[in-house]
Amino acid sequence: IDRVGVAVLGCGVVGSQVVRLLHEQASDLAARVGAPLELKGVAVRRLDAPRDVDVPTDLLTTDAMGLVARDDVDLVIEVIGGIEPARPLILAALENGASVVTANKALLAEDGPTLYEAAEKAGRDLYFEAAVAGAIPILRPLRESLSGDRVTRVMGIVNGTTNYILDKMDTYGSGFEEALAEAQELGYAEADPTADVEGFDAAAKAAILASLAFHTRVTASDVHREGITEVTAGDVASATEMGSVVKLLAIAELNEASSGESAVSARVHPAMIPRSHPLASVREAYNAVFVESEAAGQLMFYGPGAGGSPTASAVLGDVVTAARHRLQGTTGAGESSYADRAVLPMGET
Ligand code: HSE
Repeated sequence: IDRVGVAVLGCGVVGSQVVRLLHEQASDLAARVGAPLELKGVAVRRLDAPRDVDVPTDLLTTDAMGLVARDDVDLVIEVIGGIEPARPLILAALENGASVVTANKALLAEDGPTLYEAAEKAGRDLYFEAAVAGAIPILRPLRESLSGDRVTRVMGIVNGTTNYILDKMDTYGSGFEEALAEAQELGYAEADPTADVEGFDAAAKAAILASLAFHTRVTASDVHREGITEVTAGDVASATEMGSVVKLLAIAELNEASSGESAVSARVHPAMIPRSHPLASVREAYNAVFVESEAAGQLMFYGPGAGGSPTASAVLGDVVTAARHRLQGTTGAGESSYADRAVLPMGET
């Protein structure tokens, strides 16, 4: 092929920024890929919905399944989110010979292995850097850069909405509802903010982080989860008195089980952390992931973890890699799946 046909599924907060960047950065993207990326269609739920980007009307369609089945679509970007209809669309795209880039943490955390196996069977790529911590490159480092080391702990602030809320409660003594409304307005929150404030979004991300960090399989249901809805202004004030701050942490650890084997534990809960800890300085909707490994020691990855444009940045990075592979007729198969198939036992949290 001498050009890469691209389909975008979803044109919400993230999808509209992906479409914008595909258009605005077209010549840079073509240079990095080695051929132009050609937008073949954008699947939306409603043709007349207001959106943040102008999409030529002939590219808009409500028939997502028809779009991924087209022969001129080589790469599918899934930014609809949620389990259905994203799962059948991704599976159909792979079966049809397209590579897939997705930001879908909920689906990966629930059913990642089905997707990885489908990608491998099809000999196509499946990349998902944007699924965890928005723009922060964290999955590739865990899966690849640190794969010669032994990661022992990953501790992160991986939900921008709850960090924004806790930060406003800490800084201004704001109420929970008021801070949530602001976060929603800024486009950080999920369509249903329950996923944010009850910790489901962070738990999905914790499962993905644990899977990649420890080269195993952890699903969202393995993650102990507690959200921030019970955190009161009083809790935040007492943390301040103790020189600490309340943060919603996602923690994945490799421990030794009583059998002597390694066991994984993953949990999400509000925690008081000393103001001197690097994670305490993470404000507003920023995210950070603190990684501890045997050889490297401590590393911290920091940046915008939510919002359309930052998330689209991570999507586009994966698009360049996957498009280049399509052009070269290679795949990063195996890169996108868990590095090995061992399933480590889940330990006590
Ligand atoms: N609602 C999510 C957050 C978006 O607030 O972090 C990014 O996954």
